[in-house]
Amino acid sequence: MRHIPVLLEEVMRWLAPHPGQVYADCTTGLGGHAARVRDAVSPGGTLVLNDVDPGNLAHAKASLGDRGDVRVVVIRSNFASLPREMARAGIKADMVLADLGFASSQMDDAARGLSFMREGPLDMRLDPSLPITAGDLIASASEAELERIIREFGEDPMARRIARKIVRERDAGPISTTARLAEVVRSACASPNRGAGSGGIHPATRTFQALRIAVNDELGCLDALLHAVTVDAKSIAAGQSGMWLAEGARVGFITFHSLEDRPVKRAFRGLVDAGAARDVTDGALVPTQAEIEANPRARSAKLRVIALGGRGG
Ligand SMILES: C[S@@+](CC[C@H](N)C(=O)[O-])C[C@H]1O[C@@H](n2cnc3c(N)ncnc32)[C@H](O)[C@@H]1O
Repeated sequence: MRHIPVLLEEVMRWLAPHPGQVYADCTTGLGGHAARVRDAVSPGGTLVLNDVDPGNLAHAKASLGDRGDVRVVVIRSNFASLPREMARAGIKADMVLADLGFASSQMDDAARGLSFMREGPLDMRLDPSLPITAGDLIASASEAELERIIREFGEDPMARRIARKIVRERDAGPISTTARLAEVVRSACASPNRGAGSGGIHPATRTFQALRIAVNDELGCLDALLHAVTVDAKSIAAGQSGMWLAEGARVGFITFHSLEDRPVKRAFRGLVDAGAARDVTDGALVPTQAEIEANPRARSAKLRVIALGGRGG
């Protein structure tokens, strides 16, 4: 399994971990960021490793597990409920990172159905215990619902044509694999003017992103996490204690597209304007050209970090 952590040096610089501190990784993945933070919070620090994917979490736990110098707390939850889990465990984080989306290991696993480049079942669940797969959505959502998903979460101007084509094709036979769906989308978009797809990307790129976001309720979960950050930041600013964040906590989000970045930017700006946080990265940081060349997946990444408390932090 392999995943190159994105914006790693920037995360280390701006989360600024120190020995003895508590780090909460909302999206541990294979533990790339957590491994570096681990060394920086040693001795005496705590790592909270959270992920919805049991395979990734087991891998991270095995490589980062207790070595005595740092306490490791493993929580398998959706990050929407991580703040509650941490409050229950009585842990307050000095640093939080949410590196959104999926890991390369998940994308490369054909059985997850996340990539139209690999033939596999239309699953797309990052949390295998979720009840609805992408295949279920494709089989049962109305044409209007499919259009809404593809338009809202894929920002695809061809959403209506794609939804109509999916419904027509599924009436003729089930669309149950990534390759079949990619072919249906490609044929819906085929026109003398559209070529390979808008912006030169494969025409199925946006539909696959849209279905993944819908299946995993990615934007709803992000809103819940941002809400929990906001509540604690405001409590701390009002002189009370946070439920899961320590005074002066640094909170970072790495996003990969504008549907993710917009709510983070909005929530952070709200906290800065309210005097409850300081924007330590001064807007979004993006990868260097060298990082993008070494890891093309980093090309659309953005990192924003705030420190709770308006002045010091
Ligand atoms: C980009 S990867 C993280 C990579 C990690 N930072 C590293 O360096 O290895 C994103 C991870 O977030 C997890 N994930 C996505 N949405 C989640 C959610 N709502 N709650 C918890 N984990 C989530 C995925 O399962 C995946 O392992």
